Amino acid sequence: MSVKIQAVKGMNDILPGDSDTWQFFEETIREWAASYGYRNIRTPIVEDTSLFVRSIGEVTDIVEKEMYSFEDALNGDKLTLRPEGTASCLRAVIQHNLLHAGPQRLWYMGQMYRHERPQKGRYRQFHQVGIEALGFAGPDIDAELLVMTASLWKRLGLRNIELQLNSLGTSEERARHRDALIRYLEQHQAALDEDGKRRLYTNPLRVLDTKNPALQDICNAAPKLADYLDDASRAHFEGVQALLSACDIEFSINPRLVRGLDYYNLTVFEWVTTELGSQGTVCGGGRYDPLIEQLGGKPTPACGFGMGIERLLLLIQEQGVATPDAAPDVYLVSQGQGIGGYVFQTAEALRASGLKVQQHCGEASFKSQMKKADASGARFAVLIGENEVGAGEVTVKPLLGQGEQQRVKIQQAAALILQ
Ligand code: HAM
Repeated sequence: MSVKIQAVKGMNDILPGDSDTWQFFEETIREWAASYGYRNIRTPIVEDTSLFVRSIGEVTDIVEKEMYSFEDALNGDKLTLRPEGTASCLRAVIQHNLLHAGPQRLWYMGQMYRHERPQKGRYRQFHQVGIEALGFAGPDIDAELLVMTASLWKRLGLRNIELQLNSLGTSEERARHRDALIRYLEQHQAALDEDGKRRLYTNPLRVLDTKNPALQDICNAAPKLADYLDDASRAHFEGVQALLSACDIEFSINPRLVRGLDYYNLTVFEWVTTELGSQGTVCGGGRYDPLIEQLGGKPTPACGFGMGIERLLLLIQEQGVATPDAAPDVYLVSQGQGIGGYVFQTAEALRASGLKVQQHCGEASFKSQMKKADASGARFAVLIGENEVGAGEVTVKPLLGQGEQQRVKIQQAAALILQ
């Protein structure tokens, strides 16, 4: 017997039972993004490896150990399946000179790849919605992104997602903080774990990002970046907070929030829920003002966020959010000789009136067709036999709850069902 081929570990199929919720989610995203004036951008899943190394940063979990990188067997190019969307989006914006036309509000949705240990809410192929606002320097755009996310939770009917904020300042401020942090961590070097020791000099800020419980006390007492911010950075951060308060959006400041990618400056944020276990961050982002220039574009301020679609869908399930019913409105049952054309025309006419119609195909008795109609979840069966054809009519039979069946002209059937 041949062995059945399975999907790659950590990469999931989305089957019809689940894809209804995915489509509801995707539809909501399209309307939501458009309602804030964001336009869709689509980039390839594969990019030059150097794009991600240069943007995400060499000393990050993603670049050090999670990227799906390979050499193109035909020409030796070093390529990587995108682990996130910001770098690809900026590469496209720079390549096509989009900023020439002024600031850009962009969004994208699609697969990302990270070789992480799979668990609930964490996969090797996962999907993100990303938003990037390019060319805006003030705190108002940071606030817009956060107001936008808060409104998405409302549109999706999600509760209990908390906003955490921090400011990472400018690179000069981080350099001063970094010196102090290295001096502090050196005093605790013996207690650090392997990652901590390795990152002490290469990326000490990331040492504070550890999940290791044994290091929490050391991290909590470490010098705080907030104490190294100058007036302009402080004013920017306060500006964001003032706008959030004016919009009644609750938040907490988390001085330990540094994000897992190196390109951020000033405002960073995460939306976190306690209802998904350890993978509770459903959305993360912030400003990344230096990145466009680093990737070869003209210096342009920028900020954005990414959210994990699988995590949000898990939360939708966990919180019992009602999603639209994917069942057809009508199951079309028919029996008789030479009536196929009439049945097809009826089905098309009902669909043209906006109804979802599932037409029975294949030979089957009336009774077994009615069983299929019940199982389909349709609210109505439309029955067609030779009598109906002769009269230019159909029989409309309610399937859920009460109600008499009625024989009506085809043109009246849709109105009756849509009532
Ligand atoms: P990130 O924090 O690495 O940021 O990812 C954003 C979100 O993607 C996470 O908060 C999480 O919900 C989801 N996510 C990440 N890894 C996985 C995984 N292995 N399985 C399931 N979900 C996952 C970024 O990617 C940035 N590009 C966000 C951004 C856009 N910043 C500015 N603009």
